[in-house]
Amino acid sequence: MSQDIYQPNPEFAKNATIKSMEEYHALVKKSNDDYEGFWADYANEKIDWFKPFDTVLDESNAPFVKWFDGGQLNVAHQCIDRHLDTRKNKAAIIFEGDRGDVQTITYLDLYKNVNRFANLLKEDFGVKKGDRVVIYMPMIPEATYAMLACSRIGAIHSIVFGGFSSEALKDRIADAEAKVVITADGAYRKTKPYMLKPVVDAALEGESPVKKVLVVERNHEEVTWVAGRDYSYNELIKSKSTHCKAEPMDSEDPLFLLYTSGSTGKPKGVQHNTAGYILWAQMTMEWVFDVKENDTYWCTADVGWITGHTYIVYGPLAMGATTVMFEGVITHPDAGRPWAMVENHRINQFYTAPTAIRVLHKMGEEEPSKYDLSSLKVLGTVGEPIDPPAWKWYYEEVGNSNCAIVDTYWQTETGGHVVSPLPGATPIKPACATLPLPGIMAEILDPETGEKVGEGESGYMCITRPWPAQIRGVWGDEERYKKSYFGDVQKDGKAVYFTGDGAIYGADGYITITGRTDDVINVSGHRMGTAEVEAAIKKHNNVAEVAVVGKPHELKGEGIFAYIVLKSDEGIADEIAEVKAINTIIKKEIGNIALCDDMIFVSGLPKTRSGKIMRRILRAIAKDEPITQDISTLEDPSIVAKIESMVQCKMC
Ligand code: WTA
Repeated sequence: MSQDIYQPNPEFAKNATIKSMEEYHALVKKSNDDYEGFWADYANEKIDWFKPFDTVLDESNAPFVKWFDGGQLNVAHQCIDRHLDTRKNKAAIIFEGDRGDVQTITYLDLYKNVNRFANLLKEDFGVKKGDRVVIYMPMIPEATYAMLACSRIGAIHSIVFGGFSSEALKDRIADAEAKVVITADGAYRKTKPYMLKPVVDAALEGESPVKKVLVVERNHEEVTWVAGRDYSYNELIKSKSTHCKAEPMDSEDPLFLLYTSGSTGKPKGVQHNTAGYILWAQMTMEWVFDVKENDTYWCTADVGWITGHTYIVYGPLAMGATTVMFEGVITHPDAGRPWAMVENHRINQFYTAPTAIRVLHKMGEEEPSKYDLSSLKVLGTVGEPIDPPAWKWYYEEVGNSNCAIVDTYWQTETGGHVVSPLPGATPIKPACATLPLPGIMAEILDPETGEKVGEGESGYMCITRPWPAQIRGVWGDEERYKKSYFGDVQKDGKAVYFTGDGAIYGADGYITITGRTDDVINVSGHRMGTAEVEAAIKKHNNVAEVAVVGKPHELKGEGIFAYIVLKSDEGIADEIAEVKAINTIIKKEIGNIALCDDMIFVSGLPKTRSGKIMRRILRAIAKDEPITQDISTLEDPSIVAKIESMVQCKMC
């Protein structure tokens, strides 16, 4: 076997949930032989049903599918109540604040806090089953209580990442027609307070469906209170009962919305429903992270992203694990922070993004050796392709060549992992997501023929059968759901789910994800639609045209590269002012995460005669790669050389 293959640690494998490739293949065979039976068995075993389901999978209205129809359950009950008999005093959440303050929340504490929160939403805010509640929160335990309180009473939460601007928040509130926003005054970053409430205030200016705002007072900085709209959580919660009925929810009742970028238009509200989502969140926790009863698990994501939903909150709590939640910045006060946390909390599973690994590697190559990291068993990565040097450092220096690295491939739309190593079974390769998880029919298909591609060949990463945690719809837009995910690839005459990613098969069917095939860029593991960034830049009144592409970035994976045509050339005389003005607009429209790494002012864009911008050419120029396309068919072929010289001039 090639040197680049690492076998699972045999000691670890002995006690792993899935212990060998034989077990893996047996599970895959079972799911192939009897797909519905496979899922029905797990659904019966893992979920504490209020009412059993009648059917397993209903595909009669595909791509709109139903899993476990007829069943009733409650996600907050699954994540809390059912553990109380055996895990009442076990830590559910260990919270570490930015300034090192630590809070341990037991399952009983969690039960009480969530019930109080749920009663507050019902009694004081009139929130009912099916209502949409926007959560715009920092990484504090109350964010978790808010999510679980919504699921307890059947309200649909929509978390908006705290780094998004007021305009982005406003759009998401409007699209979901949310009547309540839960926020905080602010929180701490690098020991300093920062604010969220003013962003909410700005988002609610003018017409808004939001009638009430709940404010968790975390940093107690001065904020504006609008009478009759804004209420203090810290005050209202005091009088609330610690008991609240868990609403019986149908398997297919919506659980949450999470807005994510697509290749066109505005972000879409990805909808996840109750039973299928929580089942897969729990199963993948058990399989992929192999969390045992006394383990402590830490995922560094933010609850504003899907990783935070599934692998900080729902997955770990559904299985009764101890999940660590972190408010701060992992490189503060220095790049040893995460390793100090691993040592202090005796963390067994650590899950982060390749960007974080690259930054920690660059800023603190030697830091891991200063701490006792011997508790670590499984290391995970997510969100973007990881490069082999970062992978090796993670494996050797953080994991001491003893821990499996699970390179988990998945998306907001898949709800949970779909392609990933199993730490006790799968031989791993640097920067390779390896194999589909049992029960997930993930295949790399040729987009033209719908056939599975062969070894060494690349194609489109597809999932050919519905799976329980699959996206159920785009909020308020059935057509967009069908078109975005089921429009590009057909297998045996049937539309199959296309992820938007390209991938390549290695030996033994190992899958390496090569990145997006569409106009979505992946900045530090965060999805960014080029169309969204372009729309923001176009708001500048001197911008005539703009095209945004991704460009490889040493730390962030991809950076944002914008080609801008100004209406009047006078602007170019003061390029710095123009860049500043455009950045201000991007910050206002989307947030700092969408700021461009490069802006190049050009005299025109390469377009076909029908006016289509040839992004492939722009991508090649940004990457300083040769242009392989025929440019003679362009409306103005000479523009390419002009752009090239401007880029070279700017970069030199
Ligand atoms: C990318 C994050 C390579 C991919 C969970 C996908 C990855 C997008 C990996 C989803 C991985 C995620 N290797 N690429 N292990 N994991 N991606 O919705 O392009 O924020 O489509 O979900 O991230 O991003 P999202």
